[in-house]
Amino acid sequence: QIGNFNAVFLGYLLGSIPFGLILTRMAGLGDIRAIGSGNIGATNVLRTGDRKLAAATLILDAGKAALAVLIARYFWGELPAMIAGGFAFLGHCFPVWLNFKGGKGVATFIGVLLALYWPIGLIFCAVWLLIAFAQKYSSLAALTASVTAPIFAYSFSGEPLAITSGLIALVLIFQHRANLARLLKGTEPRIGSENKAGE
Ligand code: G3P
Repeated sequence: QIGNFNAVFLGYLLGSIPFGLILTRMAGLGDIRAIGSGNIGATNVLRTGDRKLAAATLILDAGKAALAVLIARYFWGELPAMIAGGFAFLGHCFPVWLNFKGGKGVATFIGVLLALYWPIGLIFCAVWLLIAFAQKYSSLAALTASVTAPIFAYSFSGEPLAITSGLIALVLIFQHRANLARLLKGTEPRIGSENKAGE
């Protein structure tokens, strides 16, 4: 029981570190929330034109969630590991430090999946890459990968991971509501389009 309780705090605290915001500020690029979609995630950091910073944001946002899962598993077991992953995701999306206005959780979700059961994390990345290359929409790639993740989790792992990833996917879809509206209207920017326009 105490493990589950600790996992909530550990997950939330690690997940709530806004790496996209911190890195872009440190690089002197200003407030990422005033750029592009206003999101603090790697996709929006890429809109600054700095690919390395975007890659670092992706790795650190995924890494913080994976770390939360691995610490919780090491000290308290498998259920606390899932709880830590879920709360790392919530911490990223709703960080207390940013008035609960955080990111959309894609990288964090990848980190959670890789640490809980890495094959599902790899499948998520494969689906993301497939859709991103085919359609050039980061949000559509993330939404497709997130919706299919619980199905793959159920098939290859079992109910606990299917439920954990299903709950995370629901919040992720909610966080992408503005992207969904733009996708339906046909106004969602394609990957790389903003950089080209700015050149
Ligand atoms: O990683 C978030 C992505 O799915 C959408 O980001 O900045 O285009 O709203 P953004």
